[in-house]
Amino acid sequence: MKIAIGNDHADPTMKIKVKEHLEALGHEVTDTGCGVGEKCDYPAAAGRVCKLVQSGEAQLGILICGTGVGMSLAANKYKGIRAACCSEPFSARLTREHNDANILCFGTRVVGEGTAMDLVDAFVNTEYSHEERHERRIAMIKAVEDEWGGGQ
Ligand code: RB5
Repeated sequence: MKIAIGNDHADPTMKIKVKEHLEALGHEVTDTGCGVGEKCDYPAAAGRVCKLVQSGEAQLGILICGTGVGMSLAANKYKGIRAACCSEPFSARLTREHNDANILCFGTRVVGEGTAMDLVDAFVNTEYSHEERHERRIAMIKAVEDEWGGGQ
């Protein structure tokens, strides 16, 4: 799978660990994020990953900041992006299965490395269910985007 990852300055080493983890599993990772010692604003980092997901260059995205919250707020301004901020794997799995989330956000100040890898595994290894009730609810979200113009 093609996966785009991004981060801010909260802890770039977590991004590096996630990238290595995904690559070891055979995924193709595009790292758009912030390196160790750099300062990066989370909205800009989120935008780079969102654009790769919007264009189809990446099937899924992963965004890491201090809490995951800023990244998810920024990412959800982009049309077609459904970004979920998760701190335990059950939600990471269900947001793929039910919400067809295409970006996982988490906080490097919230979860440790073990939970972070569990979140990533749950997210990338779960398919969207395509059940009618979920299709209908996602269509309702899309209708709001269409009505109000969404973000970019
Ligand atoms: C950066 O200090 C911090 O604000 C950011 O990583 C994130 O937690 C924002 O939501």
